[in-house]
Amino acid sequence: MTVEHLVPHHSHPPARRRTVLLTGASGVVGRALLERLRDVEVVALVHRTPVTGPGTRSVRGDVAEPMLGLDRRTHDRLAATVDAVVHCAAVTDFNRTDGSLHATNVAGTEHVAAFAARAGAVLYHVSTAFVHTAVEGDRGRAALGYAESKAAAEETLRASGVPHVVLRPSVVIGDSRTGEIAQFQGLHRVAAGIVTGIVPLIPFDASWPIDFVPADLVADAIACVVERRIDRGEYWITAGPRSLRLDEAVEVVVDTARDLGRTVDVPRFVAPELFDRLIGPVFLDALPGTVRRTVVRMLDFFAAYLQSGETKPSSLTELEALGMRPLPDQRESLRAGVRYWAAVTGHAGRETAQVA
Ligand SMILES: NC(=O)c1ccc[n+]([C@@H]2O[C@H](COP(=O)([O-])OP(=O)(O)OC[C@H]3O[C@@H](n4cnc5c(N)ncnc54)[C@H](OP(=O)(O)O)[C@@H]3O)[C@@H](O)[C@H]2O)c1
Repeated sequence: MTVEHLVPHHSHPPARRRTVLLTGASGVVGRALLERLRDVEVVALVHRTPVTGPGTRSVRGDVAEPMLGLDRRTHDRLAATVDAVVHCAAVTDFNRTDGSLHATNVAGTEHVAAFAARAGAVLYHVSTAFVHTAVEGDRGRAALGYAESKAAAEETLRASGVPHVVLRPSVVIGDSRTGEIAQFQGLHRVAAGIVTGIVPLIPFDASWPIDFVPADLVADAIACVVERRIDRGEYWITAGPRSLRLDEAVEVVVDTARDLGRTVDVPRFVAPELFDRLIGPVFLDALPGTVRRTVVRMLDFFAAYLQSGETKPSSLTELEALGMRPLPDQRESLRAGVRYWAAVTGHAGRETAQVA
């Protein structure tokens, strides 16, 4: 008989499962996290969109409000049970000008930090790899409000004195296998523009890296950091040196669309200065109003967030050491995202039935 057999199985009461408050649970990152978090009780702070999941409870709240918009009793009861806060809630619309970027992203983070302090919980703050984004001149300026609000949120956090970990994903695309995503992102809009032919020109350098990461990997990274009870530091959840070049990503989008039975012209890369000076004004003026607005938004998004041509820092090696699975093949993840977009939006051509 081994020693194990002599130890009664129920000699210790089972350890209480940790309780995690998850903000932004209905969003792109939050949904992937709901699927990934295990062995913890999840309390989702639901704003407008309800969520469900095994082991998940919901409370309705609003991070833009003091005490997360909860009544005192609910707030205090929650603070007494929560061990960790994963803060994903944010306004992620780059161009908002109605004050909600500040109210939700900056004041919201302050309120979440106050809650974490009250609960004695570690705060896992989801920021962005584009937090230090700056633009020269007017190009991309309209889309900068988001990055500025995320930078201010990080400052708020540092000033709060609450133990925290900052997690900085780059552009989040859908699930690496299925492409599924809670809502389509800027990158989907660009892929859509290529597939539907409204993007004949790309006014950026073909060699610039385009850093994206699938939502399931982002969730895995965050969950590993939470599970390992890391209570300080910064993690860049980015592809870094493994990012595709812009022309490689465009090739994947075009090939995938052609596989789906679409006729797609390969967009041409033109030098940014040439586009701004000569082509842009003529090209944009010729577009119908709604298409023009979509293209201008796309250009702003790209100009602000991809223009620098820099390779992002990446913490994937440290994250893998914490148990995160390796970055899946970038081309396959992008392909899955395009196929999912095409299936959902009815752009899948002859293969629609198989893909849907
Ligand atoms: N998606 C990306 O590519 C990406 C890249 C890097 C970093 N990030 C960061 O990752 C985090 C999650 O982003 P995401 O893409 O998952 O965002 P998302 O899909 O736009 O979802 C935003 C989430 O925040 C919630 N929310 C918005 N306002 C709220 C409020 N006042 N109170 C409480 N909840 C509120 C939304 O709930 P309702 O829908 O119910 O309002 C939703 O669950 C954000 O911090 C974002 O900055 C995202």
